[in-house]
Amino acid sequence: MDYDLLARQLEALLDSDDWLTNSAQTAAFINTNIASLNWVGFYLQRSPQLLTLGPFQGNPACNPIPFSKGVCGAAATQRRTQRVDDVHAFPGHIACDAASRSELVVPLVSDGQLWGVLDIDSPLPERFSEQDQAGIEALCEVFLKATRLPSFVA
Ligand code: SME
Repeated sequence: MDYDLLARQLEALLDSDDWLTNSAQTAAFINTNIASLNWVGFYLQRSPQLLTLGPFQGNPACNPIPFSKGVCGAAATQRRTQRVDDVHAFPGHIACDAASRSELVVPLVSDGQLWGVLDIDSPLPERFSEQDQAGIEALCEVFLKATRLPSFVA
């Protein structure tokens, strides 16, 4: 996967600085351009320690997710990307879609604030390599750079 090319294409696509437009475009862009995914979307910290469902592509999903739960909660709490080869082996994984087998969740941090996470699910086990992780983290950087993020949480 040519993630450098994807980053340049996403940069060109995000020609507004609006968080709602850009998060919707980013979810659709990833879902269209990266193979073997069944869910791509944002969860936003709109109230303290709670992730609220934002723009996404895929089946209707679980909402809300507390920081104490699931792969998304772990990414938000630790502020570290969670790359899970087998979701069934992850303690506390929240199964929104039974088809999901592996998952990548990237925390979105701006000005020291955890704004939200980008969550990506695949129906294939071990779908995400270290290279995928680095490439998708770079796409998140493009999103963060392009977007004026409102602070939902004081
Ligand atoms: N599996 C996630 C929940 C969100 S869905 O995958 C869309 C988790 O364990 O946090």
